[in-house]
Amino acid sequence: MVKKNACVFISGTGSNLKNLLKRARDYSFPIKIKLVICNNKKALGLKIAKKNSIRLHLVDTKSRNFEKKILKILRENNISIICLAGYMKILSKSFLKEFGKKVINIHPSLLPKFKGLNTFQRILKNREVMTGCTVHAVTENLDAGKIISKKSFYIKPKDNEISLKRKTQNLEYKVFPEAIIKIYRNI
Ligand code: GAR
Repeated sequence: MVKKNACVFISGTGSNLKNLLKRARDYSFPIKIKLVICNNKKALGLKIAKKNSIRLHLVDTKSRNFEKKILKILRENNISIICLAGYMKILSKSFLKEFGKKVINIHPSLLPKFKGLNTFQRILKNREVMTGCTVHAVTENLDAGKIISKKSFYIKPKDNEISLKRKTQNLEYKVFPEAIIKIYRNI
């Protein structure tokens, strides 16, 4: 099978990056992670990219034309899909239009509920019965776009922000790869 070149965008720990790299070792997994883009020079995920010898680009989102610079790197590396894995910056409408290919994001809630930040805190405050994670197509609007995969679990009375995060992320490690498989099964 000819794998598609993927770029993973990160800002933090990179545990989803690590998981996708592991899955991509599988011959039948549809993508190869060719590039990592990170907007945080202190991100722990940088170590994961380095350890796996993945080409890495740190971007300064405060610099002018940073999205143009990213687009150039994406083109040079023949990237077919961008996977946002904890990338905490909104991509502009013009960036998405110019890239013109697939861009997906994982979010730690059952979208369209709880878009944005401080997700676990808000879920607990709202006394939700269930939570989970969602992979969706990226648009210029925050955590919006067509839903590709979503999975849920019941919240227990003793759950707190730490346990919810752990449970949600464990689910993310299943849902993100599944969504990628689903995308390439449908074309
Ligand atoms: C993930 O839980 C992801 O769902 C969340 O950031 C975390 C990154 O963890 N993304 C968002 O909140 C986007 N709105 P990781 O760096 O360990 O993969």
